[in-house]
Amino acid sequence: MNSKILMEARQYEEQEGNRILPENRPLFHLTPRIGWMNDPNGFSQYNGCYHLFYQYYPYNKKWGPMHWGHATSKDLLKWDYLPAALAPDTDMDSGGCFSGSAVTLDNGQQLLMYTGVVKISDIDETMFTQTQCIATGDGTDYVKYDKNPVIGIENIPYGLSEYDFRDPKVWREKDGTFRCVVGACTKEKLGRILYFKSEDGFHWDFISVLAENDGSLGNMWECPDFFELDGKYVLLTSPQDCIQTKKYNCGNITVAMIGTFDEKTGKFIKESEHLVDAGIDFYATQTLLSDDGRRLMTAWMQNWDSITYTTKDLHWFGQMIVPRELSVRDGHLMQKPVREIEKMYSDNVVYKDVSVGEESVRLDGIEGRIIDMTVEIRPKPNETYRKFELRFAEDDDQYTSLVYRPKENKIWFDRTHAGSRRAVIHTRRCKVADRGGNLKLRILADRFSVEVFVNDGEQTITNCILTDQKVTGISFTSDGGVMMDVEKHSLNF
Ligand code: FRU
Repeated sequence: MNSKILMEARQYEEQEGNRILPENRPLFHLTPRIGWMNDPNGFSQYNGCYHLFYQYYPYNKKWGPMHWGHATSKDLLKWDYLPAALAPDTDMDSGGCFSGSAVTLDNGQQLLMYTGVVKISDIDETMFTQTQCIATGDGTDYVKYDKNPVIGIENIPYGLSEYDFRDPKVWREKDGTFRCVVGACTKEKLGRILYFKSEDGFHWDFISVLAENDGSLGNMWECPDFFELDGKYVLLTSPQDCIQTKKYNCGNITVAMIGTFDEKTGKFIKESEHLVDAGIDFYATQTLLSDDGRRLMTAWMQNWDSITYTTKDLHWFGQMIVPRELSVRDGHLMQKPVREIEKMYSDNVVYKDVSVGEESVRLDGIEGRIIDMTVEIRPKPNETYRKFELRFAEDDDQYTSLVYRPKENKIWFDRTHAGSRRAVIHTRRCKVADRGGNLKLRILADRFSVEVFVNDGEQTITNCILTDQKVTGISFTSDGGVMMDVEKHSLNF
């Protein structure tokens, strides 16, 4: 039986969500049915389609007691809303159903594993205990397990905080047994990733501290994910409160650690580590292994530090990235948009060997806001160039720009002129490989975002933009001679 709190949320979202016109949402990025969305949860394939749940507060465009919103898709691009799956309606999660994940049980049911949050003080707002809970269901309706929590405070090693123990990522091993990783931290706020196992998904044992923050990477590590890919093990996590360094941006970021796994000790042995996405709006990744063998990643296309970047005209807040196919190359996580995007191509405009210089170049048919465009540049023979700039969503007043300086091998992203009314961070930079001035940029844009894939996904730069939808110009300039190839597809269902 669904609780009153869940039924009310379902009724509210149905009524209010349907009033949002499709043109006021992105075309192929998931947004909350109504209200607020943060982390992706329960990213899975179940009963023939992809399921994506999300941290959800339907009643406001601000974070509130967390529910789980729910959507399904056949192609990872066109999403259909299902009724909210979870609401904060039991003694174990009265403060919210925080992030978690999903797997299929042998009996055909779907198991959702999430963090149940309970407020224990009215005075100190940080006093929320966090434990791991489960609910099982048929892909639409879920029943919370009556013996929740399945991983309680007594299961975590001595010295760790009971107020920061969250975001279980569950998966099944080849032998059918269950594993999960959960974010935790010491009382001094140093992140730990805990590793658990279970025979049936309901009874869990602590195995090990899989990885730990030595103090060099933020505080608490949120939203862990752990999987094998291309002969390596990958640990993804989102450290909070990072300080700016040469390698990492300040704030809340997501890092990929690549290495090996010692099954005997349950320890991850890191060999390399890097930022997953250099943009402003990227956090809280979650992956799934698809039936056709692809490791697919989604993430919140937003960040806690940029949540004031919105407009009152929209009745939703928060989007998910376009799911990305992952691979590991030379100790580095490579990302590309899911191949399903090619089914959305509705035209194909190609230019080869376009000469770019100081005078801004605009090309017939190269414009639009819902596009997949690849731009390849190289220095003119026997010449060098100092700077190349691509402007997107451009008119006389507004633009979003990408500037590349080959001498420094850096890309600067800038959305200062992209409709913001808030004085928050609008620029980011990103180091790219030295290829003698050659650069490949793939730009995947929807009404309210631009995801940039650099050099076949070695780096990505993900950002929301709020530029007026009528602004569709694209232009190119360079300081020094550049030759450019462009291929653009408009996207449509
Ligand atoms: C990450 C996060 C998670 C938590 C959820 C709460 O963005 O803070 O750690 O489960 O959001 O909504």
